[in-house]
Amino acid sequence: SNYPWIAPGPNDLRSPCPGLNTLANHGFLPRDGRNITVSMIVEAGFKAYHIQAEFLIRAGKVGMLTSHEAETLSLDDLKLHGTLEHDASLSREDFALGDNLHFNEEVFSTLANANPDSDYYDVTSAGQAQHARLADSIQRNPNVTNTIFQSLSRSSESASYLSVMGDPIQGVAPKRFVQIFFREERLPIEEGWKRPSVPSNVTSIGILAEQIAKVSEWQPTGDNCPAIVLAP
Ligand code: HEM
Ligand code: MG
Repeated sequence: SNYPWIAPGPNDLRSPCPGLNTLANHGFLPRDGRNITVSMIVEAGFKAYHIQAEFLIRAGKVGMLTSHEAETLSLDDLKLHGTLEHDASLSREDFALGDNLHFNEEVFSTLANANPDSDYYDVTSAGQAQHARLADSIQRNPNVTNTIFQSLSRSSESASYLSVMGDPIQGVAPKRFVQIFFREERLPIEEGWKRPSVPSNVTSIGILAEQIAKVSEWQPTGDNCPAIVLAP
């Protein structure tokens, strides 16, 4: 293909987001992970995942807050805790407990082992995994932050992996694809994945996120001050 997967080198930057890292690993975004604009994210996300612009513009603009530059970010800027990066991630440790940037197999085991007896993840298993990850953070992390904004973000992220690795309408995705996406930050093309023929957008992701959130039985933690970190 024109966009071969190549593992990042020692000077390439990556983010806490498997979606963006996969785009960089295939060259839809700059492989060095630097000098990335919202427009580049919009083009890459459409080409690789069939995600329509509005969703990528929203996330991309908030993401820009994590950068010192006016119009670009480097992927590792996005690890700034409390802007988009949050606790109880599916594949990264909480900020207060260690490395909130790199993939962590132990953290990921909750999602990896979700929906036993099926080859697929769906909105139910996604909500259950979110519930379990938050319960773990509340138990182990005295500094856990868990606001309504972060809850909405987490459900949108779960909706995103179901959409880009599977069906953006049904919210069903093969486990094998999702696991390769998280673990290797690779499009599982050799395993049979294809770019979804149906686009994802703010509406479709919102519909799935709402179903996922319902299953997750989310409750705020602490004073739930909805502060967002506006700059590094
Ligand atoms: C996290 C998917 C675009 C920033 C995540 C997660 C998924 C995901 C599944 C959850 C990771 C986890 O819980 O361990 C995607 C997909 C995208 C996309 C498929 C399509 C291109 C973006 C954009 C931005 C962004 C445009 C901002 C520029 C982040 C950040 C996190 C994240 C900062 C870390 C949140 C956390 O878990 O603490 N993304 N994302 N993502 N995403 Fe994305
Ligand atoms: Mg996180």
